[in-house]
Amino acid sequence: MVQSVTVKAPCSTANLGPGFDVFGLALDAYYDKVRLQKGGRGITIQTADRIPMELEKNSAGLVVREMAKKFKIKTGLVVEITKGVPTGFGMGSSAASAAAAAVAFDALFKLRLDGNSLVRFAGMGEVASAGSVHYDNVAASVLGGFVIVRTNPLDVIKASPPKGLLLCVAIPKIPVPQRKTEASRKVLPKTVGLADHVRNLSNASTLAAGFMTGNVPLIGSSINDIIVEPARKHLIPGFDSVKKNALRAGAMGVTISGAGPSVIAFASGATSTSRISGAMRRGFASAGVDCTTVICRPSGGASVV
Ligand code: HSE
Repeated sequence: MVQSVTVKAPCSTANLGPGFDVFGLALDAYYDKVRLQKGGRGITIQTADRIPMELEKNSAGLVVREMAKKFKIKTGLVVEITKGVPTGFGMGSSAASAAAAAVAFDALFKLRLDGNSLVRFAGMGEVASAGSVHYDNVAASVLGGFVIVRTNPLDVIKASPPKGLLLCVAIPKIPVPQRKTEASRKVLPKTVGLADHVRNLSNASTLAAGFMTGNVPLIGSSINDIIVEPARKHLIPGFDSVKKNALRAGAMGVTISGAGPSVIAFASGATSTSRISGAMRRGFASAGVDCTTVICRPSGGASVV
């Protein structure tokens, strides 16, 4: 009888500009690992990383608790988490752990859940960090590639990204608040004007079409958000310079990665990604901020290792 399963799940970028809470893209930059083991009493968290140990504040712990409840699993479980994804920087860190936990639970108890069900359970973990359920990051981490999430009823559409798509992520070295996602959702407008909605919807539609047809330039030119980015960018020192520099250096589109503060540039294989990264670094430096840059590609989804 299988006693433990280890799953690794990729980081992700959510929103991709106009697709707030709807679009996600798994990235091969960083991975979290969750080892789920039968044993002990109740559900316990083990980790050497600086993340909450309480079940209800830990995204992987919450997922395991909800799945154990749903499938009436009474056996004790140890959830061992190894973080690879930087926490609180808009790279889907809590989602990667949640996705790995859902896939590990599914494998350990041989549930054979479909993609939508795994995403639904993984989404329950987002309450730990964002204060509400949203599925963009978890869907990308569970399924890999580019995902479109329709909620109510939940339906996740996946597309395999074109090979020529490259991403440059600049992760600023600034302090981030606890429950940063929740904080950065509070600055968003409660209502939007019809003209703005139409512009974002048109960009979101062409972006989705770009992924469906493998059209890299169309993806790049659709990374254009006039609703969420303007409301959040003041939370990222130097954002305007980072974006302007990256575009000048050849990026096709630039936006906030998830709820920030990382900034992500979309590039085609034909452009120099190291030039774009350097330009982004100089943008942050102009605001007195140091940053880490990573050049990456889309990733596959969570998998048993
Ligand atoms: N769509 C979410 C947001 C992603 O932008 O708030 C962060 O979890």
